[in-house]
Amino acid sequence: MTKNLIVEINQDIGEKSDKIQSVLSEKNFCIIRGAIDPKIVKNGIKKVKKYIEKNDDNPVTGESPSAVRDYFMKLSLGEARHSGKKIDKKFNIVRPRFKRVIYSPLFKQDIFKLDEVFIRFAKIRNFLMGVDPEYALREDKTNKMWTASRIHQFPSGGGFMSSHVDTVAPSIIKKDSIGKGFFQPILIMSQKGKDFESGGGFAKIDGKNVIYEDFTEIGDIAIYNSFTEHGCFDIDTHKPFFQRSGNGRFSGLCTLYKILN
Ligand SMILES: [Fe+2]
Repeated sequence: MTKNLIVEINQDIGEKSDKIQSVLSEKNFCIIRGAIDPKIVKNGIKKVKKYIEKNDDNPVTGESPSAVRDYFMKLSLGEARHSGKKIDKKFNIVRPRFKRVIYSPLFKQDIFKLDEVFIRFAKIRNFLMGVDPEYALREDKTNKMWTASRIHQFPSGGGFMSSHVDTVAPSIIKKDSIGKGFFQPILIMSQKGKDFESGGGFAKIDGKNVIYEDFTEIGDIAIYNSFTEHGCFDIDTHKPFFQRSGNGRFSGLCTLYKILN
């Protein structure tokens, strides 16, 4: 079953757009393999871990919108009533989580040497959305959108994200986009079995919660759409949590955010 979810990309993602489209429409989930170099991801995560060890976390709430357009690290804890997101009826009010977010802005100092990866990742997002490849890579004042390239750490000792569905700015998604409306690509940046032992990213596929990280590899891109319930099961609860540690699960996001100021 899992093999049917993976679309291998050799050179041009365009050659596989029909395949990606069909897997997404059938399963509300798809994995793209071969588009991102895992070596660069591994090297980047080493630098991210050092950054976590040497810097402090910002508070869960209260940062200015512009603060996260630069290097910025915070814990994301609690029920997230603060997120300002529209509350979806099915999941009701709260979206509990325990994770760390590290914003890694494009075209700045590239301190994690991950710009190359995030630019490629965002171009794939743009391809799937059916927009210009360069869309929102640099802050786009005309469209008022930017790419919130960032890394999520789900720490050893209980990192998790409760089950939810994503919403992505609908107005910019074209009707003929590969993702057919809303979708969210997630970059796999750690290896289950090596970087963490239990838990991991899951998605509801054919009515069952499937831990897709049981079969993904570093550099894979998992794609959800607006129907996909997904989250992250508790990471390594048999280990203690240390705040200044980079142990655990890592994933990357390149979500389109509105420029608020
Ligand atoms: Fe999500």
